[in-house]
Amino acid sequence: MKKTKVLMVCLGNICRSPLAEGLLKAKVNPDHVFVDSAGTGDYHVGDHPDPRSIAVAKKNGLDITNQLGRQFSERDFDNFDYIYVMDNSNYDNVVKLARNEQDQQKVFLILDKIFPNEDAPVPDPYTGGNQGFVNVYNMLDEATDIIAKELQ
Ligand code: 4NP
Repeated sequence: MKKTKVLMVCLGNICRSPLAEGLLKAKVNPDHVFVDSAGTGDYHVGDHPDPRSIAVAKKNGLDITNQLGRQFSERDFDNFDYIYVMDNSNYDNVVKLARNEQDQQKVFLILDKIFPNEDAPVPDPYTGGNQGFVNVYNMLDEATDIIAKELQ
């Protein structure tokens, strides 16, 4: 059976999308669903997730330490069925690389799962404190519950 492939995308691929990847991975059958993440920027290619994302994941029983940052590329449109972005800026950066309507239709704002049609962002926690990471974790936990259920 062909696996469904889901890509989580943020800017740096060190704070938000690694959490989204770790959360969804923990909720789906790996024989049926492949989950990965990427950043639209190249600042953190090859880096492990931010220590604050690692810490909030660990507190909730998830180990995301082994993930490595990579940059989103046009090829991801061929390799993935669903591309979930964290905010509108990520959306614009990903859609800019779409080659056709089919590519574009794979891209969704992740919080649309909880708040349909509200354009709600997962706020970038990079320059803030630890509470921002806790908030991001909780939003992504809720959104990935819905995504996992839909993929069943
Ligand atoms: P992320 O957060 O997009 O959630 O991974 C960021 C991490 C790093 C930078 C920006 C956002 N940065 O500019 O280095």
